[in-house]
Amino acid sequence: MSEPSQTLFALSIIFIITSCYADSSNTTSPSSSLCPISLCGSISIHYPFWIKSQTINTRNQFCGYPDFGLECSKTNKTIINLPSDTYYVTDINYDNSSITLVDIDILDQKCPRVRKNVTLSNLPLSFSKLDLNLSFYFNCSSYPTNLEPIGCFIVSDNEKLKSYVLVDGDGGEIGYDNWKCEDHVVVSVKVDEVSDFVGSVGGLINEFGAAVKKGFVLDWRKGFKDCAVCENSGGYCGYDEKTKNSTCICGNGSVVAKSCKKALSSWQD
Ligand SMILES: *[C@@H]1O[C@H](CO)[C@@H](O)[C@H](O)[C@H]1NC(C)=O
Ligand SMILES: *[C@@H]1O[C@H](CO)[C@@H](O)[C@H](O)[C@H]1NC(C)=O
Ligand SMILES: *[C@@H]1O[C@H](CO)[C@@H](O)[C@H](O)[C@H]1NC(C)=O
Ligand SMILES: *[C@@H]1O[C@H](CO)[C@@H](O)[C@H](O)[C@H]1NC(C)=O
Ligand SMILES: *[C@@H]1O[C@H](CO)[C@@H](O)[C@H](O)[C@H]1NC(C)=O
Ligand SMILES: *[C@@H]1O[C@H](CO)[C@@H](O)[C@H](O)[C@H]1NC(C)=O
Ligand SMILES: *[C@@H]1O[C@H](CO)[C@@H](O)[C@H](O)[C@H]1NC(C)=O
Ligand SMILES: *[C@@H]1O[C@H](CO)[C@@H](O)[C@H](O)[C@H]1NC(C)=O
Repeated sequence: MSEPSQTLFALSIIFIITSCYADSSNTTSPSSSLCPISLCGSISIHYPFWIKSQTINTRNQFCGYPDFGLECSKTNKTIINLPSDTYYVTDINYDNSSITLVDIDILDQKCPRVRKNVTLSNLPLSFSKLDLNLSFYFNCSSYPTNLEPIGCFIVSDNEKLKSYVLVDGDGGEIGYDNWKCEDHVVVSVKVDEVSDFVGSVGGLINEFGAAVKKGFVLDWRKGFKDCAVCENSGGYCGYDEKTKNSTCICGNGSVVAKSCKKALSSWQD
């Protein structure tokens, strides 16, 4: 090879490498045609979320974190299953990696009665700073008399059983440990939805229903487990139904075990 063509060859290699790396640095853009953006109602669904009913290829590789598979209902509502319960996803904010969830069971209830604490287990999710926890005490037979019960939970055939709501943590001062209640459930709501009512007499009692129906916010953690390596190599972390393992989907359509960079770096050495 003559010298100019050698230079050209070297230059083109450098160009290929830099363009690959430039592409790699943008890991959040769902540009791969293998992982297209889907719409469920007004919710845009893309990496790290994916729609369960859509397989992207014959090998059943899903475009997203294993536990972030969503369902799109017949009425175009987005649904996620957490270990504790099933929730509507009412918002996904890809800029600050947060999702808003609403308990599916309570939306139709006039007086929302949440049954379960939210359990995140070891999912790459955490409660947002935008949340505030409310503590509900249901059907108490022993309670302080100076506290106003939630009117809409009083049942006519047993008016002695009363239910209460407090900002979580406030109960300690009142000695709620001595209450005798059938159930204690901690419910996260958006702090903005209740800040006007906290501390006002009867405020929470009348307004918690609307706040609970607005849901709560969770942040998702980027670079989950093995996905970090894949994401840093410019790929999408996927999930293989067959092996029940995470995989890495590269821009060129290849599905690799962990990293889209591997082949490139050995070639570079
Ligand atoms: C990734 O690319 C998309 C468009 O291709 C762009 O809108 C977005 O800002 C980029 N993100 C980063 C982090 O560079
Ligand atoms: C759900 O969305 C699809 C696609 O936008 C639309 O064709 C369909 O009519 C919607 N269904 C309902 C029940 O709104
Ligand atoms: C989330 O993003 C919105 C705008 O996209 C912004 O107004 C809001 O403050 C952000 N929240 C957090 C907790 O960063
Ligand atoms: C609300 O409760 C959850 C679960 O116990 C906890 O992880 C979270 O930190 C609490 N949030 C606040 C604002 O106290
Ligand atoms: C309280 O107990 C009654 C009778 O068992 C039941 O019908 C009602 O749903 C309970 N209320 C709450 C808020 O759990
Ligand atoms: C919900 O969490 C609270 C506080 O962590 C706990 O005291 C209560 O027993 C839990 N309730 C249920 C139904 O698991
Ligand atoms: C999943 O992948 C890890 C490492 O990539 C491997 O150690 C493990 O055996 C795999 N599990 C299955 C069920 O294939
Ligand atoms: C796609 O890229 C990956 C990672 O760079 C590489 O291992 C694979 O061989 C490529 N596949 C094709 C079909 O070019």
